[in-house]
Amino acid sequence: MKPACGKGSEMQATIVAAEPLAARAGLQILEQGGNAVDAAVTVGFALAVTFPEAGNIGGGGFLVGDVGRARGTDDGQPICLDFREKAPLKADRDLYVRAAEAGIEKASLLGHLAAAVPGSVAGLLDALDRWGSLPRSRVLAPAIGLASRGFPMTASRHRRLSSKGTRGQMTLFEETARIFYPDGEPVAAGEIFKQPDLARTLQRIADNGREGFYGGETADHILVEMKRGGGLIAIEDLESYRAVVREPVQFELNGVEVLTMPAPSSGGICLEQMLRILSRFPLEEFGAGSTDTIHLLAESMRRSFADRNHFLGDPDFVSIPTEKLLSEERIEAMAKSIDLKKSTPSSAITPAGATEKEETTHYSILDRHGNAVAVTTTLNGSFGSKVVVPGTGFLLNNEMDDFTARPGEPNLFGLVQGEANAVEPGKRPLSSMTPTVVIGSGGEVRGVLGTPGGPTIITNVLQVFLGLYRHNLSPEDAVSQPKVHHQSLPDHLYHEEGIAKETLMALKDRGHQLKRRGKIGDFQLISVAPGGAVRGVSDPRGGGTTATKVKIQRN
Ligand code: GLY
Repeated sequence: MKPACGKGSEMQATIVAAEPLAARAGLQILEQGGNAVDAAVTVGFALAVTFPEAGNIGGGGFLVGDVGRARGTDDGQPICLDFREKAPLKADRDLYVRAAEAGIEKASLLGHLAAAVPGSVAGLLDALDRWGSLPRSRVLAPAIGLASRGFPMTASRHRRLSSKGTRGQMTLFEETARIFYPDGEPVAAGEIFKQPDLARTLQRIADNGREGFYGGETADHILVEMKRGGGLIAIEDLESYRAVVREPVQFELNGVEVLTMPAPSSGGICLEQMLRILSRFPLEEFGAGSTDTIHLLAESMRRSFADRNHFLGDPDFVSIPTEKLLSEERIEAMAKSIDLKKSTPSSAITPAGATEKEETTHYSILDRHGNAVAVTTTLNGSFGSKVVVPGTGFLLNNEMDDFTARPGEPNLFGLVQGEANAVEPGKRPLSSMTPTVVIGSGGEVRGVLGTPGGPTIITNVLQVFLGLYRHNLSPEDAVSQPKVHHQSLPDHLYHEEGIAKETLMALKDRGHQLKRRGKIGDFQLISVAPGGAVRGVSDPRGGGTTATKVKIQRN
């Protein structure tokens, strides 16, 4: 295979993100000579301004990349950073059981108790220090400009703010209402939306680094609000928060090497399990979207999610039997247990739960040297806990709901999870975010993949991967093909519209309990062809964009 980025050649720098202003801000940084990590930091901070549903400084995320290429060198180094939120030190496993008993029904989802200690600022700054090349002030400048000068409110965000559910919850909190519902009404479509408090917070981060968020004035505002609203985040939580460098999940399959996210994400382990189970079946022969292929997808998903929901949690707190879960024997046994003509009820597999909200966001970056960065970041639900910390302009996450908040009960995503993911002080909740980089046999980047969507993140990355590397679909078709999802419990095969009626009937005949659902994910893909041609595809399901610098220079 010919390397896509050979010595002396330059790639087409590309950023694919769910929101165009943030993507362009990142592209400017690449144009100013920044690398993929510099651009990722800029896009991350810019999304906190322009995409408040999910972009954040009050949440967390994961970064996977393959970087370090400079002009004249071909091989990159895998990088992986965990900046997932952590449970406050005052949290404990029965916190939400007690809250429910006290009549507070949605404590893990709405309001101050739902917020875990934010990780995004630590993570983005750490990534910049380790692998970036530009000064902090430069990479934060676009976000500060967008917050202080403002930008037009989009019609889709205006509609979302106007919906009964969002409006009802957001206006429970005075500061949130003041920012998003001035004069009692959602900011109008087309109106210039300025966020001066957020601009000042970002400026403090630019001036003082992590201390600008986890200390000083910003920390004071967080602590005052926690006291006022009955939240648990204390100064010790803020001072002690650190992002963690992890070893990425790394495996070879179908002629490519996959770099993806380890625990506390379930994404990498599940993706590897499902791909290796499916490598034992002739999917190419069955064809993309055929009954046999969808049946096998569902059966591998349900088996992998049963393991996910039982075994996985924060590796700093629970011992994850990774070797066993990824052993040849385990994969072989999982594949062998699949009946090609009949679905296996999830109850016959192991413990394992979908109303979906796509309120996470992903962006993919490729710089001109061929360095790749994939970042998935989240507040969990749309606008997180709905609490804006007064004086700071940012929303706090509701990531505590990704724990097994109430044992035996499904969480926001319908997942029924186990003891390994119980709440413990300082622990990270199990995630499904799956930022992924695909490397070709010549050491060159072939793909940068990721999407929001709770547990559908993992199964969506799986389907785009299979579309690209096994079914030979175009990048556009790999992203837009109708997606399916199974997460063991509830025992439903979720599907988007667009799958042929006969296929659905045949799947039903095999015993699948079909459930049509709305759009799955908002994929942000960069695909690099073996000859070096770069294609960015922002999912037609969302409102994102591909920003590219059209400059290919080959010496
Ligand atoms: N909050 C969604 C996830 O991390 O999977």
